[in-house]
Amino acid sequence: MKTNYSWSAPSNIAFVKYWGKKGVQEPLNSNLSGTLDKCRTNTSIIFEKGEFDVTLFFHGERNETFEKKVRAKLAKTISNEFPSLLNYKLTIHSENTFPHSCGIASSASFYASLSLCLTEFEFELSSRSIYGESDCFSTDFLERASFYARLGSGSACRSLFPGVATWEFESPAYAKCLEIKNDNLKEIDDFICLVDSSEKSVSSTLGHSMMNDHPYKDLRINQANQNFSACVTALQYGDWNSFIQVVEEEANSLHALMMTSRPAFILLKPNTLAFIESFQRWREEHQVNACYTIDAGPNLHFLVDRKQSELFKSFIEKNTHLLENGQYIHDQIGGVIKKIEHI
Ligand code: DP6
Repeated sequence: MKTNYSWSAPSNIAFVKYWGKKGVQEPLNSNLSGTLDKCRTNTSIIFEKGEFDVTLFFHGERNETFEKKVRAKLAKTISNEFPSLLNYKLTIHSENTFPHSCGIASSASFYASLSLCLTEFEFELSSRSIYGESDCFSTDFLERASFYARLGSGSACRSLFPGVATWEFESPAYAKCLEIKNDNLKEIDDFICLVDSSEKSVSSTLGHSMMNDHPYKDLRINQANQNFSACVTALQYGDWNSFIQVVEEEANSLHALMMTSRPAFILLKPNTLAFIESFQRWREEHQVNACYTIDAGPNLHFLVDRKQSELFKSFIEKNTHLLENGQYIHDQIGGVIKKIEHI
């Protein structure tokens, strides 16, 4: 039997944000994201029979802090669903295709790639094929991998699906792929602009927990669920104006929630706002289908109609003085998971 599994999974950018959780890593509100292409994590796991343990190497070096977190997730939550995992010693090798300090959270792509390795191993143990019709990965396989990814890190469950993935509060076990029929909003580029790479003062996990007794909790859940429906409709009809309105409102609301948490915290930096101001002026002048979004940090993602990407690049090039070392990554929505030989 095979004992070594390797997978590559992309990161994702939320259009409607998951912020706040309940139960075992279930979202308070429905959310959805675009799966990136270039920004990904490659992971391999070697399974050896023996007492359960985890050793983790990141870019070839043992990382004991991360190893401890992953060991705890596997032992405490994932093994409840996959008990025979506890009869194995796991050696994990992982690496990101994007620079470590570029401000992209790697937990989504990491847990997505880790879960694919775990799920392939689980299927192999029970002699099930991971493939469905016409050599595509089976729905069972993808849903199981998304389920494990969610237990690792909520937003990771969306990284398994190409294009746009939804994670709904009414069916929170795993994410699903959103099939988009209209071509108008299918080709979206993502320019990831690094404003500040220093460590965040408040982690996402702590931020989520502050939603439990947030003064705007109920309002937020309603707003996000409405935005979820509005975003799905905008994507289905190829309606860029509505898409821009929803996506920017979501980014602004996420940070407004942080600023009104108890205790309050602010992750935006002066240059985040300076860049947005400059972008709004430029967009007004050029009438480009483009919007900004921000996850839990100070860095900006610009979602841009691919037809207008070259024009948008000229805007960024004029504003690189607002970015840390002038850094940005030009990625796109539409990445897919890949089974790889080794990392
Ligand atoms: C702001 O998935 O990183 O990026 O489930 O605690 O691991 P945990 O949190 P995480 O939260 C992501 C929050 C967000 C919005 C989003 O991706 O939807």
